[in-house]
Amino acid sequence: ELPTKYPDPVKIAVIGGTGIQALPGFTPIATVNPLTPWGYPSSPISILTHNNTPIAFLSRHGLHHQYAPHEVPNQANIAALRSLGVRCVIAFSAVGSLQEEIKPRDFVVPDQVFDRTKGIRPFTFFEKGVVGHVGFADPFDAKIAKLISECGHALAGEGVKMHDQGTLVCMEGPQFSTRFESSYYRSLGCSVINMSALPEAKLAREAEIAYQMICMATDYDCWHSTEDVDVAMVMGHMKANGENAKRLVGAVLDALTREENGELVDGRHLGGSTTGMIKFM
Ligand code: ADE
Repeated sequence: ELPTKYPDPVKIAVIGGTGIQALPGFTPIATVNPLTPWGYPSSPISILTHNNTPIAFLSRHGLHHQYAPHEVPNQANIAALRSLGVRCVIAFSAVGSLQEEIKPRDFVVPDQVFDRTKGIRPFTFFEKGVVGHVGFADPFDAKIAKLISECGHALAGEGVKMHDQGTLVCMEGPQFSTRFESSYYRSLGCSVINMSALPEAKLAREAEIAYQMICMATDYDCWHSTEDVDVAMVMGHMKANGENAKRLVGAVLDALTREENGELVDGRHLGGSTTGMIKFM
């Protein structure tokens, strides 16, 4: 039986996507498994410490990649993190590239989302008598995005290529896009595509958690050639770029745990007032 709580508040969390089922180089000091009103999270949550600061790590698709994108228990994941005290989430995701200049293995810090999920995923905490509306015009956190970008550029010498903005298409999946859909998103100026940003980012906003996704391109989606995207391609690039992903997480956690960035990780800069409506503990 794993504990449901960690004794100290944990403000920072990393959500690992496909290919990042653990945080390499960090030693967990505890594992917790909070039971929320929405059930258990995708995986038990590891607590690591970095610069004397506890950090939570959650594997979005489960420890054995057992949850397809449309099956991820997003409400439980966000509620579980919030119940630990989390106010800042760095979420990793493998993405397809929709633009020539975003090459496989490049990183993108997106600033916009095009919601192409089909409404079949539970997507809100505000229902069943709890009525609320949050702004979502800027779905990600610009301050955390800037910090991540700077970390990425500082690692340019080690081969990290960082794109500082972009529009992320979040499609339903689990099938990849048709060639028409892929070209259509390109024609709209979209940058990258995945299946996991939503409703995760919406639920984080409702829970008053500052949320920023870091995308890693694993393929050029199907617009680029006559080749189809397949899982082997995605995993191949993911593996090949593992070292860079690791360097980037390390640098981001270094920056987030610095005292001067305290207001980025404790919710102070968010200024909303919705969370009081929901009991996450
Ligand atoms: N995740 C990784 N590559 C992808 C693609 N081409 N489309 C959707 N999700 C992806």
